[in-house]
Amino acid sequence: MIAGLFSLVRPLLHAVDPERAHDLTIRSLALLPPAPPPRDDGRLAVEAFGRRFPNPVGLAAGFDKQCEVPDALLSLGFGFVECGGVVPRPQAGNPRPRVFRLARDGAIINRYGLNSDGLAAARARLERRAGRPGIVGVNIGANKDSPDRIADYETCAAALSGLVDFVTVNVSSPNTPGLRDLQGEAFLDAILARCIDAREKASGAKRAAILLKIAPDLSLESLDAIVATALQRQIDGLIVSNTTVSRPETLKERALAREAGGLSGAPLFRLSTRTLAETSLRVAGRMPLIGVGGVDSGEAAWAKIRAGASLIQLYSALVYRGPALIAAIKGRLLAEMEAAGLNSLAPAVGRDAAAIARGEF
Ligand SMILES: Cc1cc2nc3c(=O)[nH]c(=O)nc-3n(C[C@H](O)[C@H](O)[C@H](O)COP(=O)(O)O)c2cc1C
Repeated sequence: MIAGLFSLVRPLLHAVDPERAHDLTIRSLALLPPAPPPRDDGRLAVEAFGRRFPNPVGLAAGFDKQCEVPDALLSLGFGFVECGGVVPRPQAGNPRPRVFRLARDGAIINRYGLNSDGLAAARARLERRAGRPGIVGVNIGANKDSPDRIADYETCAAALSGLVDFVTVNVSSPNTPGLRDLQGEAFLDAILARCIDAREKASGAKRAAILLKIAPDLSLESLDAIVATALQRQIDGLIVSNTTVSRPETLKERALAREAGGLSGAPLFRLSTRTLAETSLRVAGRMPLIGVGGVDSGEAAWAKIRAGASLIQLYSALVYRGPALIAAIKGRLLAEMEAAGLNSLAPAVGRDAAAIARGEF
């Protein structure tokens, strides 16, 4: 029903400013009566981070930035939802306009700059849903003007890890100056150590997995160091990737492509999938990966899995294709599994990582 409604209102939503359209979408989702998610075929279930995901298709961070509608989003059929990015103190983010639709490219450029109602508001909203079913995580970052950014991650992890299934350390957002420098070895090691420590001390019904989300623009040397640090600190998994600061030559919307910010959607697919495959080759099965970036079809989702993802996430394609895409992806994954004679996705994970890392896909 929601998918049908979306096709009716999509022209209206796409006629207004992208940020207003998004706010209207969140407001509408908040009005939906509570509904259980559609039942998934058992073959789509994925075991990861000590949880059983009913299906591998998740909603990426940034859609429900203020943690307002995770349950409504789960009811659309997502196997998991990542809320946030949340930072400790409320901050406004960058001046508007700060989101741009590159419609002919199936892409978005955003420079929100982690606009956030702050940790107390996020925590209160997540507390209100405590005890409800469905896998929900939260993406955390640092305040732009923070004197101690490492402490900001610890503060967020301490406050939220008893309430959610996973906490994602976001050191890859391109829109907070200097944030991606935290992907450097010393900073990263300190952040991960302190988030794990905070998780151990946190009280609450849940014990969040600690995940790290990385950029698609890293050199292979930086990726080597990040994977080594993640493995040494024994975090629970990696999310590959955030938006890119690069602008592929193929973009059709040349004027909009000059806007500053992170590019997401179809033009990010190749870069993020290659980075995922390179990560998978280095991790070699020692922790699960979540593949994000340009997933706009079942075929793209299947490529992410073959590149090394146990789970996938999407954001931009939801804006262009609407929630009907979720069922379409699940259907295609089941068809691929049947064609390959598989009863679960696990044996396909990373199967083509070496070829995809070489660009053969
Ligand atoms: C408008 C917008 C806001 C986003 N905000 C966040 C964020 O707060 N934290 C984060 O880690 N990623 C954020 N992202 C990145 C997405 O989670 C995702 O990694 C990226 O968009 C690639 O996926 P896609 O091509 O399916 O959109 C944002 C993306 C968009 C388009």
